[in-house]
Amino acid sequence: MEYRHIEVEPLTPGIGALVHGVDLGKPLSDAVFEEVHAAWMDHLVLFMRDQHMTPAQHLAFGRRFGDLHIHPAAPYAEGDPALMVIHTDKDSHRNNGSGWHSDVSADEEPPLGSILHVHKVPSHGGDTLFANMYAAFEALSGPMQTLLDGLTARHVSDYTGQYGDHKPQREFPKASHPVVRTHPVTGRKALYVNAGFTRYIEGVSRPESTALLALLFEHVKNPTFQCRFRWEPYSLAMWDNRCVQHMAVWDYFPEVRSGYRVTVAGDRPF
Ligand code: SIN
Repeated sequence: MEYRHIEVEPLTPGIGALVHGVDLGKPLSDAVFEEVHAAWMDHLVLFMRDQHMTPAQHLAFGRRFGDLHIHPAAPYAEGDPALMVIHTDKDSHRNNGSGWHSDVSADEEPPLGSILHVHKVPSHGGDTLFANMYAAFEALSGPMQTLLDGLTARHVSDYTGQYGDHKPQREFPKASHPVVRTHPVTGRKALYVNAGFTRYIEGVSRPESTALLALLFEHVKNPTFQCRFRWEPYSLAMWDNRCVQHMAVWDYFPEVRSGYRVTVAGDRPF
């Protein structure tokens, strides 16, 4: 794809690109927005540096892609449940997203994408890893693809105790989704099971489900499906949860890493 308004610098052949020429602190023209959206669909995860924007501008950028998603349990800022707080410091007992996952895949309609703006970074570390689930599906053998395509899996969330005394926004969701989903924009097939939320595959025996999920959770960790992003203050990352899993590395205790995430609502996977 040729871009006329932005510059797109791929990080790896399969996933991730740095986007230059966008200032989210200013109103975004339709032409720039269309190119950002196209680049997102092509590269799955986009990164932008030095984005000095207010929470209102962050929320407004998210709304360009659709309605905003409300996390079931995470604390939020500015009195707006759509502005999720991502914060780790010396008093934290966990960080957000420490294992491979697709955000809130246990929702009946899981979020299509997430836009994270990190304001404060540790002196070293705190990277986020992203993995391409189209590539994960395509790397499976034909017989394995045939077996998985058509199966569904149960996704269950349980945020008990994860956010201290913050009262959850709603009941913790549970849902059944296809093991292989079709991306509604690109039409490509992506593997859609993740260690964070997927508990079992339906319609097969429990030992079969356990073995299959163990194989798939190991498979998605293949570094050839991945890119790794090193944050700077005011970097932004936006990932497409329909075809990407991610994990945030907590290797910087007791330092602080802090930002806000705006999450875009999605539709029922098919
Ligand atoms: C998350 O949204 O899963 C957290 C990602 C991160 O902090 O890098």
